[in-house]
Amino acid sequence: LKASLVLDKNYKIAKVDDRIYGSFIEHLGRAVYGGIYEPGHELADEHGFRKDVIDLVSELQVPIIRYPGGNFVSNYRWEDGVGPKEQRPRRTELAWRTIETNEVGTNEFADWAKKAGSEVMMAVNLGTRGIEAARNLIEYTNLPGGTYYSDLRKSHGYEQPHNFKTWCLGNEMDGPWQVGQKTAEEYGRIARETAKAMRLVDPTIELVACGSSGAGMPTFPEWEATVLDHTYNEVDYISLHTYYGNQENDPANYLAKTMDMDNFIKTVTATCDYIKSKQRSKKTMYLSFDEWNVWYHSNESDKKIEPWSIAPPQLEDHYNFEDALLVGSMLITFLRHADRVKMACLAQLVNVIAPIMTENNGRAWKQTIFYPYMHASVFGRGVSLQPMLSSPKYDSKEFTDVPYIDSAAVYNEEKEEVTLFIVNKHLEDSIELSADVRSFEGYSLVEHIVLENDDLKAVNTADKQAVQPHNNGNAKLDNGKLEINVAKTSWNVIRLK
Ligand code: AHR
Repeated sequence: LKASLVLDKNYKIAKVDDRIYGSFIEHLGRAVYGGIYEPGHELADEHGFRKDVIDLVSELQVPIIRYPGGNFVSNYRWEDGVGPKEQRPRRTELAWRTIETNEVGTNEFADWAKKAGSEVMMAVNLGTRGIEAARNLIEYTNLPGGTYYSDLRKSHGYEQPHNFKTWCLGNEMDGPWQVGQKTAEEYGRIARETAKAMRLVDPTIELVACGSSGAGMPTFPEWEATVLDHTYNEVDYISLHTYYGNQENDPANYLAKTMDMDNFIKTVTATCDYIKSKQRSKKTMYLSFDEWNVWYHSNESDKKIEPWSIAPPQLEDHYNFEDALLVGSMLITFLRHADRVKMACLAQLVNVIAPIMTENNGRAWKQTIFYPYMHASVFGRGVSLQPMLSSPKYDSKEFTDVPYIDSAAVYNEEKEEVTLFIVNKHLEDSIELSADVRSFEGYSLVEHIVLENDDLKAVNTADKQAVQPHNNGNAKLDNGKLEINVAKTSWNVIRLK
């Protein structure tokens, strides 16, 4: 099989917003307690944060981390998580039916994010609460002092404001599972009024309105149209969430699911532009894909978890090799929509549907999906280029005309580097790819990293990294022509400089 592509430095999609490599930490399962925070651990710092976890997060170079939820935020009282730890209440947490000890809250998380080199993307509770709690929280986090809540922060030992810039107006408010679910009309109104109040406190913030919880929701995409009609002038982004799984063990169809993601992005973009026209607006609405990943392996074991425990092992998906390929392909999808997708959060970061796992009182280790995420985050900064690709295609159970080769390219003008990301979705055959890169005159091949494995179901554990990349790929560059024999079911990173 053969495929070809032309890559030209003038075929620009848009500058990649680094925040598409964001992630997410929710007060859920062992993400916070036993994940980023474990005071008794031998590698914990003076604040109880695990240094081994911070090291792995740093390897991923995560620019922004969404917090504190997720479904959790819809029943969260932020005041419970600030001030002297011994006075913080233990609460029933309704989203995941656990006990929340509130040992970690907004200030501790801000400290942790700083150590990890990440910005915080804060969410406010629009489930059980509303305008009042949101304006108080932003006064607490973003005002320098001289008011009740900013002085309260100072009295808690935080002299300087956190200045959180990006804020989510609630979470998945269309979902029946959400505490305080709303209709699009109800949500549109409360989101708009909350946005106004928050901006009056701090006009420099950016706001994300909740889109649908997924393209499969019965109210999609009417939800987006209604919510945006209410909020178009007040918000900067609309959110998208999606999780895929291979429940039917049909890898060809599973790897094709980025077709669905692509369509989801196109439909939300079209809906944003429809409201833009309807409102005669000059403003362009951007997309925040603030939850995305594979999530299905842990569904059954989660049913067995007893309610009202503290930090139980919830949503601990154990990822295999094919999951890493799909994650790579999802990252490629974002890059190809770099003109509209400005933020994205891999959900989540530690233990809960996560690239990083920890043992309680033990080791931290990398899941298979760690690698494509790291490669994209580290090498995918610059301008997203449009590869003019011609690839053989296949049909799967749900999708037609799926290109076997999925690709995106990022040109870093400052560093004079270009990186091609390629997935081969063919289950049996390698593909001869010939790429015309003549516009990158004088460049040579730096490396060809490959993630491959004969077993699609291979997994990593704390003891063994069965799935990990090597940089002995076979790419050859000669006279502006790049020749690659792209191994079957593989993730490839080809770097030229
Ligand atoms: O990421 C796990 C959960 O998935 C989030 O809490 C929620 O927003 C989504 O349904």
